[in-house]
Amino acid sequence: MGSVTSEPRVSRRIAAIAESATLAVDAKAKALKAAGEPVIGFGAGEPDFPTPAHIVEAAIVACRDPANHHYSPTAGLPELRSAIAAKTARDSGYACEAAQVLVTNGGKHAVYNTFQTLLDSGDEVLLPAPYWTTYPEAIALGGGVPVELATTDASGFRVTVDQLEAARTPNTKALLFVSPSNPTGAVYPPAEVEAIGRWAVEHGIWVVTDEIYEHLTFGEHRFTSMPTLVPELADTCVVLNGVAKTYAMTGWRVGWMIGPRDVIAAATNLQSQSTSNVANVSQRATLAAVTGDLAAVGEMRHAFERRGKAMHRMLSGIPGVVCLEPQGAFYCFPNFEALLDREWGNRKVTTSAELAEVLLDEVKVAIVPGEAFGAPGYARLSFALGDDDLGEGVGRIADFLS
Ligand SMILES: Cc1ncc(COP(=O)(O)O)c(C=O)c1O
Repeated sequence: MGSVTSEPRVSRRIAAIAESATLAVDAKAKALKAAGEPVIGFGAGEPDFPTPAHIVEAAIVACRDPANHHYSPTAGLPELRSAIAAKTARDSGYACEAAQVLVTNGGKHAVYNTFQTLLDSGDEVLLPAPYWTTYPEAIALGGGVPVELATTDASGFRVTVDQLEAARTPNTKALLFVSPSNPTGAVYPPAEVEAIGRWAVEHGIWVVTDEIYEHLTFGEHRFTSMPTLVPELADTCVVLNGVAKTYAMTGWRVGWMIGPRDVIAAATNLQSQSTSNVANVSQRATLAAVTGDLAAVGEMRHAFERRGKAMHRMLSGIPGVVCLEPQGAFYCFPNFEALLDREWGNRKVTTSAELAEVLLDEVKVAIVPGEAFGAPGYARLSFALGDDDLGEGVGRIADFLS
């Protein structure tokens, strides 16, 4: 008989990691669907489109070439690193060299590598909330302390320089910046991006700027890159990006970080001792993606814009729900506070997490509660799903809550 022991079986560092709430909601919805339940999932942050054909073809060709069957340089195929530098200059106007690019296993891996590389124990990272669930975990895994800065729908979910300044301490090492934002769909106007960049330069604070939704902006809203607007930031800035959202390539697992040469060299050492090179076939597919034109991206963007408008209109029609019209990415982030502390489905519902549970149980619709993003009272709904499912799913929520 084994002895009973209270010794933890995994390290405290890893035990402290929370499961990704967005992936958990998605997995639960998919499992219920597989079991025959008519579930509609608004959880996953991934385009429903297939990867464009010319990218898939490049991967097929790459599979047949034995050169791709073996290890390749940790930091990425040299031609891909150059192509990413060229694509960055083309799309955001930020001039960098191939040596400043590290190709990673998805954007999430770029986030992880960046905080492992930049942070020492106790370093504070300013993190505007609502935030993407991965950021605080990756900061903590790097030994850092996430310092949350609350924003609300009333301020358009945008942090201000005054807020940043009020939170700055001698331990502030970096700011995490993302626009267009997951989960809020907010896009910062150029003047605000520039003001934040100038504040960071003035105080020697690093900026980690996640540009993964750069091509997904709607209406008059436009993406602008902070180090392009504030070139003095280049030496204390890491740009994160990847192909997942732009080219419907979530499953291919390719992202990258762009930073000063010494940071990229250090991060490459980390990657050489952990995951090594990204799968060559995926890198070849990415080469086709970033060197190709943006026609397919334009079509997907158009569809997302249409769906975002439809979802926003339907959500805003529910009495008590406040929803900002998405400006970019593919999420609505409605405020359900006015519907809490009431009975729904014969259950007392006091939090957005409970509301999400009731919606899944009662009308078979999966949404991600705001708690996962540091924003209780809200919820995230992805509109990267087909028009029919979108209409049916939001319709079920509206019928239930009206
Ligand atoms: C803001 C943001 N950054 C990075 C990523 C990472 O994407 P991936 O790891 O699939 O490339 C995501 C995915 O949801 C995201 O929303």
